[in-house]
Amino acid sequence: MEKTRRTFIKKMTTAGIAAAGLSIAGNASAVETSITETQQKKKAAGKDDGKLRFGFIGTGSRCQEHINNVLAISGNKIVAICDIQKGPLERTLKHIAKFNVPEPKIYTGSERAFEQMLNNEEFDCVIIASPWEWHVPMSVAAMKAGVPYVGVEVSAANTLEECWDLVNVSETTGSHLNIMENVCYRRDVMASLRMVREGLFGELLHGECGYEHDLRDVKFNDGTQYNYKKGGELRMGPTAYAEAQWRTQHSVMRNGDIYPTHGIGPVAHCMDINRGNRFLSLTSMATQSRGLHKFIVDNGGENHPLAKVRFNLGDIVTSMIKCANGQTIIVTHDTNSPRPYSLGFRIQGTEGLWMNDGDHVYVQGKSKPHLWDDSEEWFKKYDHKLWSTLEAQAKEAGHGGMDFIMMYDLIDCIKNKKPAPMDCYDAAAWSAISGLSEMSIARGGALVDFPDFTRGQWIHRKQEFAL
Ligand SMILES: NC(=O)c1ccc[n+]([C@@H]2O[C@H](COP(=O)([O-])OP(=O)(O)OC[C@H]3O[C@@H](n4cnc5c(N)ncnc54)[C@H](O)[C@@H]3O)[C@@H](O)[C@H]2O)c1
Repeated sequence: MEKTRRTFIKKMTTAGIAAAGLSIAGNASAVETSITETQQKKKAAGKDDGKLRFGFIGTGSRCQEHINNVLAISGNKIVAICDIQKGPLERTLKHIAKFNVPEPKIYTGSERAFEQMLNNEEFDCVIIASPWEWHVPMSVAAMKAGVPYVGVEVSAANTLEECWDLVNVSETTGSHLNIMENVCYRRDVMASLRMVREGLFGELLHGECGYEHDLRDVKFNDGTQYNYKKGGELRMGPTAYAEAQWRTQHSVMRNGDIYPTHGIGPVAHCMDINRGNRFLSLTSMATQSRGLHKFIVDNGGENHPLAKVRFNLGDIVTSMIKCANGQTIIVTHDTNSPRPYSLGFRIQGTEGLWMNDGDHVYVQGKSKPHLWDDSEEWFKKYDHKLWSTLEAQAKEAGHGGMDFIMMYDLIDCIKNKKPAPMDCYDAAAWSAISGLSEMSIARGGALVDFPDFTRGQWIHRKQEFAL
């Protein structure tokens, strides 16, 4: 774990340099990997039984849900899994055994064991559900190893340099880099996308979204169901459980919107970002940092060892984005305060809007003047076909079913040799909000430019998501 921390610090130092504003231009920087030339040229071999071959890197809690959905869809098999910890690997093997399918090969023993897995095995798709600092090294290694479809969890990248790495390597290898942004498949989100596409809201003007989720328990989790006052302990770092091992450290080291894609992904689809429109510039501001320290003191007392930790992350980070076609978008990051969960969507155009908080829709000429409609009635009418056809299969799946719909859509593309539903340009543009907001906050809220990750192609690229 010590090496992980050093790698993290090295990467975040790079982020710090970017945040100081030294470079935001396109960067095809050399990407660290030990994959050899010959192995890079490896092509997917012929299939023995015609099944799609899956691999998983990072077998923690998120991986279990992906496994459920991969195995719920016929014609798939899991060839190999990789993790550095015994516990998650054992849990995952037990989980897979419930499906009565052959046991996958295990790769473990070092932080770079995933490279051996990628060198030794043939995959149609590798899913990466590891800590954030590993997303890009693992995605890059998978693409360079010739894996045709690579699914990376959110956010895809932490820094602008990493965003460019994803784009450059996807372009040069031809591998499809699919950001696994499940919220793009949420039922209400897909219905609102349909309403946008059918013109109900007119020309879009403005969007709002965010990640507003009280993660204080998750950030100090010792694995005892967050029961601090009844003997559980507040923990973060190597001795903690699951995400508290790595996620909390980002709140120590960074100040920006460090988890933007659940919010921005759906809004980007509505606004045709990278396909006729693009993000131009961003400004961000952060509040003071209070919530995490207060949580430690409230639950562990002023003398708790973690009370000495200085958290950099402002409790509420607000970013505003300007788009090439005129729209504005407000993105919020709010994970350190007591509050009910919300992604706070608002999609507004010249004819009406959807407001997620309050479940409101208003459509000029159809809603009673100046009065909200309940969004449920509208969303029933504009239910997306992925949901109306897959509802029964999605029923038991994670996050209200959207995890299944997302996996189904990706697998459909793999089976039909189509581009992945969301690509390296989506991954880069959405994730770039992190690096850019850190940069803007460090400069007192200065306006910073978005790189054009498509290098001008956004003007001609056509929308393909969930048509
Ligand atoms: N889309 C969603 O709704 C959603 C929900 C939860 C988590 N996530 C994302 O999924 C990812 C994983 O989250 P999680 O909750 O499963 O975290 P987790 O901590 O439970 O699992 C991460 C796993 O990665 C392993 N790992 C760490 N370094 C590794 C390495 N070098 N090689 C191989 N394995 C390594 C860890 O041992 C751990 O088992 C994160 O990116 C998170 O943001 C997304």
